[in-house]
Amino acid sequence: MCGIFGYIGTKQDASTSILEGLKSLEYRGYDSWGIALQKSDGTVHITKHPGKIGDAKAPDIQSSIGIGHTRWATHGAISRENAHPHTDCTGDVVLVHNGIVENFDKLKTELEAKGHTFKSETDSEVIAHLIEEFLTSSQDLGNVMKQTKQAIDGMNAVIVLFPKHQTFYIIKNGSPIVIGKASDGYYIASGASAILPHTKEVYFLEDGESAKLTTDALTIFDKQGQEKQPTFISLPYDAQMATKGDYEYFMLKEIEEQPTVLQTISKSGYEDIQKAATLIKNAHETYLIGCGTASYAALAGTYLFSKIAKRHINHSIGSEFSYLVDFLTDKSLIIPLSQSGETIDTISAVDSAKQKNAQILAITNSIGSTLYRKADTNILLNAGPEKAVASTKAYTAKIAYLYLLAHEMNGSYDKGIDHLDTAIKAISTLIDNQNDIEQIVHGMKDSTSIFVLGRGLSYPAALESALKIKEVSYVHAEGFAAGELKHGVLALVAKGTPIILFNPHDETYEDTISAAYEVRARGGYVIGLSDTNHEAYDEFIHIPDCGDCTVIPNVVVAQLMGYYLALAKGFDPDKPRNLAKSVVVK
Ligand code: M6R
Repeated sequence: MCGIFGYIGTKQDASTSILEGLKSLEYRGYDSWGIALQKSDGTVHITKHPGKIGDAKAPDIQSSIGIGHTRWATHGAISRENAHPHTDCTGDVVLVHNGIVENFDKLKTELEAKGHTFKSETDSEVIAHLIEEFLTSSQDLGNVMKQTKQAIDGMNAVIVLFPKHQTFYIIKNGSPIVIGKASDGYYIASGASAILPHTKEVYFLEDGESAKLTTDALTIFDKQGQEKQPTFISLPYDAQMATKGDYEYFMLKEIEEQPTVLQTISKSGYEDIQKAATLIKNAHETYLIGCGTASYAALAGTYLFSKIAKRHINHSIGSEFSYLVDFLTDKSLIIPLSQSGETIDTISAVDSAKQKNAQILAITNSIGSTLYRKADTNILLNAGPEKAVASTKAYTAKIAYLYLLAHEMNGSYDKGIDHLDTAIKAISTLIDNQNDIEQIVHGMKDSTSIFVLGRGLSYPAALESALKIKEVSYVHAEGFAAGELKHGVLALVAKGTPIILFNPHDETYEDTISAAYEVRARGGYVIGLSDTNHEAYDEFIHIPDCGDCTVIPNVVVAQLMGYYLALAKGFDPDKPRNLAKSVVVK
């Protein structure tokens, strides 16, 4: 969703840094963009555009103070007028905003009655005029920003440039804001990876906090408005890891990084896993929660814990969890799973659980993120920056952690490691032979529907696989429990419908073969993934038996299928239409 990038410091090419910063936030999803730069004569140059940044050049302006924004439209159409930055009537207040001002309608009516003229349809512009209004009775910017913070409802992050004072003020209550401290000034962004080319030293602003920045000073104010000493942390990766390198798309780069990510977990995940196992053992009940891909990892966790650890662990979609919290106590353990650590539905679920004093063990890929800060205990996936909208390596990392955790609880950690290592080799082989998958995909590119079937552990893997295929290729894809076929799904199978069938050699094998026959009898085209070929398959992809870890290479096949299907249909797999990487509004 919307992205913010700002700079205030000593170098004169803020323009270039801001444009580059916005480009590195493109992965969040946006439909228009803009930049405001303060010139040396004190005036502000604003440029705004509907559409993508593409080959746009940075404004040719010397400046050491500026803010930029990528907008994901909520209030008002995708247009130049609605793009950020927004200004008040005088131009003395210039701002960018992430979030939704829930009471904007009422505020706008009041401000219009007082003579303010609006240039856009956005809720964001209301904040600029509100600040202008408060400035008529006080020139104390800190006080004005405090009043503004109190007056706007909702989860918002706002950076305001006061050109006359060469000062930024930031207020935050929701959307993420990271402040980086570099030798040439301060960088502000809504995602840490955008700051990495400039510095690793970052401070994540907490909800309710605010900040004042000048060329050479940063002051943080706590929720009560008192000055506080910020504790900067050092990001555990470098700028190179957040770039495409030799790859055309992040999605393929991230798919191919999976063997390395999983090897790191296999070699050095034990301490975290032990810590988490103890928490689960001591809890009265445990819930795994997440959204989208993370929700399918949570569902997989329920199967893994039941099968391997002989323990029932609930799972819930993040956005549904707040309706399930009534029985939680201080003995409950909630495990939010999240790549970004910023998904608002997962954060709200955690907030509901915290109100019941439940313990929070966050499994995220983002050090310093909101979920990371809200949790009592953290496990970092250490998958490195994931920038393609479609989550790949963060998903398999989550499954690997849950798998090893279930084994640790069962006292069979070494067996878990053996299976994980076999799965890593299987993924490497799939990556080496990805042309085979590309070929199979060519035969599917005109299909209007694709189904993915599996039983047991392969059922959540089927759901995740279908999501991967649909979100980047826009082909209707659905995952089903193979046993559900005859309860309705068969009605959807027509001649040539591709059916991806996960058939590991476990307790589900024979029944899944029956499913293959059932769909073939209705004309379905069966692509079987298993360790041995079978006459019921039209197409066969060899996946060695990796025990319960076989689901990991199975999903990697679907990731590659989604990727190649997107390319075959001429779509950019990194930036699927209508989707954003970080979903920070409800
Ligand atoms: O950052 P999170 O893991 O919390 O994100 C959750 C979902 O928004 C995310 O997994 C989404 O479903 C992806 N587009 C899936 O590829």
